[in-house]
Amino acid sequence: MSAVVIDGKAFAAGVRIRVAAHVARLAEEHGVVPGLAVVLVGQDPASQVYVRNKGVQTVECGMVSFEHKLSADTSEADLLALVRALNADPKVHGILVQLPLPGHLNSDLIINTIDPAKDVDGFHISNVGLLGTGQKSMVPCTPLGCLMMLRDHHGSLAGLNAVVVGRSNIVGKPMAQLLLGDSCTVTIAHSRTKDLAAVCRGADILVAAVGRAEMITGDMVKPGATVIDVGINRVERDGRAKLVGDVDFASAAAVAGAITPVPGGVGPMTIACLLANTLTACCRAHGLPEPDGLTV
Ligand code: GUN
Repeated sequence: MSAVVIDGKAFAAGVRIRVAAHVARLAEEHGVVPGLAVVLVGQDPASQVYVRNKGVQTVECGMVSFEHKLSADTSEADLLALVRALNADPKVHGILVQLPLPGHLNSDLIINTIDPAKDVDGFHISNVGLLGTGQKSMVPCTPLGCLMMLRDHHGSLAGLNAVVVGRSNIVGKPMAQLLLGDSCTVTIAHSRTKDLAAVCRGADILVAAVGRAEMITGDMVKPGATVIDVGINRVERDGRAKLVGDVDFASAAAVAGAITPVPGGVGPMTIACLLANTLTACCRAHGLPEPDGLTV
C-alpha cells in the first residue's frame, strides 16, 4: 500500500474539540447554549444507533440535546406540528429529522417545513438554492466533512479534477457544489455514466457515494489521486458481518496518494459536522461571530 490513510476519526475528534471550546466561550461570555433537536420516527435499528450517537456527542460538546422519538404510525399532521413547535422554540438552534421516514410521510414537505436557519442537515430547498448560488447556507454534514478533510490534505483544491460518483441530494449533488465552490473542475458520474472507469481515472479527487459495496477498484483510480469513500455497506465475509465502503480499499490504496478508510474515515465526520452546524446556527441566531474553519 502506498496511499496515506486519512484518519477521519482523529479529524472528527479535533473538530469536536474546537466546537466544544467555542460552545464553552458562548456560555461564559454570552450565556447562550446551542440546542439540537433530533426527531426519529419509527424503530429502524440503524437510525436508532445514529440518533443515540448524536445525542451523546451533542452533550459531550456542551450543547443541549432534545430527542423526540415518535411511533412509526405518527401522522403527517402531528409531525408537522412538532416541527413547527421546534421552529418556534428559542432553545432549539438546530433541527434534524432522521431519514428515511416511513413511507406514508412526505419527506420533502417535512424537511421544507423546518426553519431554514435551523436546518442543520442543509436539506431545505432554500439551503440547497443558497449553496448552489454560492451564498451563505447550512451545508449538508457529510459533504462538509469530506471538504474539510480534502482542504486539510491538499490546501488549495483549485484546478483539480474532481469526480463525484453518485448523484444523491444528501451527498453527491452538494459535494459537487462544494468542490465547484473551491474551483475544482467537477464531474458527477452515476449508474448510467458511460465508461465509468475512464471517467474515474481522470480524477485527482475521487469521491465515491453510490451505496454499492467496493464497486470502485484500483484500476479506476489515477495514480496519486485522493479517494474519499462515503459508502457504508454491511456485507458478509467468511461468515461474518463486516462494514465496507464503496471503494475496494486494498486495490485502491495501492494506487491512490491518499484514501479514507471504512470505518474510520468519512463516517465520524458526519456527526462532527452536525455539531459544527448546530454551533454555526446558534451563532447566527444570536448575531455572534461564527467559529473559523467549521463551515464554508
Ligand atoms: N439518515 C442517514 N444520514 C442522515 C443524515 O445525515 N441526516 C438525516 N436527517 N438523516 C439521515
